[in-house]
Amino acid sequence: MEELKRMVAKEALKFVEDDMVVGLGTGSTTAYFIEYLGKMIMEGELEDVYGIPTSYQSRLLALEYGVPVVGLDEVDAIDIAVDGADEVDPSLNLIKGRGAALTMEKIVEYRAGTFLVLVDESKLVERLGQKMPVPIEVIPAAWRAIAEELEVFNATAELRMGSKKDGPVVTENGNFILDARFHRIDDPLDLEIELNTIPGVVENGIFADIADIVLVGTKEGVRRMER
Ligand code: A5P
Repeated sequence: MEELKRMVAKEALKFVEDDMVVGLGTGSTTAYFIEYLGKMIMEGELEDVYGIPTSYQSRLLALEYGVPVVGLDEVDAIDIAVDGADEVDPSLNLIKGRGAALTMEKIVEYRAGTFLVLVDESKLVERLGQKMPVPIEVIPAAWRAIAEELEVFNATAELRMGSKKDGPVVTENGNFILDARFHRIDDPLDLEIELNTIPGVVENGIFADIADIVLVGTKEGVRRMER
């Protein structure tokens, strides 16, 4: 699996050119991309490339591997954003947010000229929600009310708990995460919009209609899916 992740991360470098602003996603696949991008910059193979981190993880990796970072409020445009995903459906709709960085990821990826997604073949599903719950970032005081309201959507939600911290996961924006399992997601775009209308919801992990290209790592090589 790690080999497949490395393979797609290497392939993604072909999309980066001099003078580009690059959105740096979060997660184990993007970590390889940031490492390889840093190497190219340090070796002088790419010039004037700047990264916009979507989390502390991607910021730390960028600093470690030598990718200069800038803030979203310092750039006029983002040329390309590169990130992993938890599920990808045949129309390139995604579920993201296993790493709890979904809000900043969506802010950056929505604005990118090209949003390039890197996955291994285990992430491909026929229908979103088949394997993974939909992460929803919520204002802490509202978590229980929102969890109850999700029953209207035929979903059951769990408050995400920390693994090396007692109590709930607290996002980089100071919020909680609800992991919601839906009985069936027929229309990802519709659900994405509806969830964000619930007061107290900051953002949700359905990324409908924003991925442009998905690179899929398979044992036979990299497969490209495009909208
Ligand atoms: C971070 O919040 C997530 O959206 C990740 O981008 C996603 O979970 C993919 O991570 P991996 O590349 O580690 O599978």
